[in-house]
Amino acid sequence: MIQACIFDLDGVIVDTAKYHFQAWRRLANELGFDFSEADNEQLKGVSRMESLDIILSWGGLAVPEVQKRKLAERKNEWYKELISHMQPDEILPGVPAFLQELQQLGIRLALGSASKNAGAVMQCIGLAQQFEVIVDGHLATRSKPDPQVFLIAAEAMGLLPGQCIVFEDAESGVEAALRGGFYAVGVGSPAVLGKAHWVIPGFEGLHFQEVLRHIQA
Ligand code: BG6
Ligand code: MG
Repeated sequence: MIQACIFDLDGVIVDTAKYHFQAWRRLANELGFDFSEADNEQLKGVSRMESLDIILSWGGLAVPEVQKRKLAERKNEWYKELISHMQPDEILPGVPAFLQELQQLGIRLALGSASKNAGAVMQCIGLAQQFEVIVDGHLATRSKPDPQVFLIAAEAMGLLPGQCIVFEDAESGVEAALRGGFYAVGVGSPAVLGKAHWVIPGFEGLHFQEVLRHIQA
């Protein structure tokens, strides 16, 4: 019996994945190299410092720890500037109606994000109050595909993983959900998220009953 839905934030509720990409790309360009949107898939769901390590490896750069902290801080300043202008109208299509339906059905809502900026984004878009539990990159210390972030959310609600559905746009996030014993719904391309119990292109026109039908099929 499903009792809760746990949502990833970046790329699921809002398209902040594009802001992370812009800010990281700016940093890479300053360091003298570039990377593509396809490369960027590997960074989704991955913590700030681990993302930096991956990007530096693409550029073939070995950077001392102190310098890495400064680079990550610089990226984060650009990212914070990009998200500071966010409004509720940046919530992705269909998400508000779907959340409303879940609440009417008594399904509990949690957020499971690797981002340390998740709380700030949720405030900007006006959703912070609607979620019973918000687990962010401050609480979760291990990056997806480790299931930690979702396990903390389930435990905070007093639920077992099998009672929760995770919505994720990252391959690493779907993997994390599955490893943790959750139901996983991929939001995006089946080519990337094919391991999930079901993959949807987005939330427009989506109903909870349909989700249940597909994950239990
Ligand atoms: C995840 C994003 O939600 O948060 C990653 O998918 C990002 O791209 C990670 O690196 C950490 O975000 P932040 O805001 O703590 O740098
Ligand atoms: Mg995401």
